[in-house]
Amino acid sequence: MLRILPAALLVLALPAALAQQKGDADSAHRNKIAMCIGCHGIPGYKTAFPSVYHVPKIAGQQPGYIVAALKAYKAGERSHPSMRGIAASLSEQDMADLAAYYGVPAK
Ligand code: HEC
Repeated sequence: MLRILPAALLVLALPAALAQQKGDADSAHRNKIAMCIGCHGIPGYKTAFPSVYHVPKIAGQQPGYIVAALKAYKAGERSHPSMRGIAASLSEQDMADLAAYYGVPAK
């Protein structure tokens, strides 16, 4: 009986350790998404600083389009100052994660 115990504990501990890792990845994901919600998640898709401007809806676009747009902001090919600042801080992996979250894959 006592010899089974360590093995049983290991089996019990393993899923918890894995869940912990996944939790961290999820919260990193949520932090990135939170950066975008402020502008892209508001009703009517308008924001009001420094003046009222229209914010395009990104949810439901194709992931490839979202990544291409973010890269274009980062490269300076698209020139909106808020989006350039944000895209500059994103890695390719971030862009792919965000696109996967917001985008709807082509069928
Ligand atoms: C400060 C407000 C603001 C924040 C925060 C913001 N955006 Fe934007 N975003 C805009 C505006 C305004 C535009 C339209 C810019 C233009 O006309 O080029 C835009 C455009 C875009 C576009 C292009 C959409 C299209 O239809 O061409 C994408 C993709 C995008 N944002 C993704 C993101 C993602 C992903 C985040 C979070 C990491 C984010 N944005 C955070 C304001 C914001």
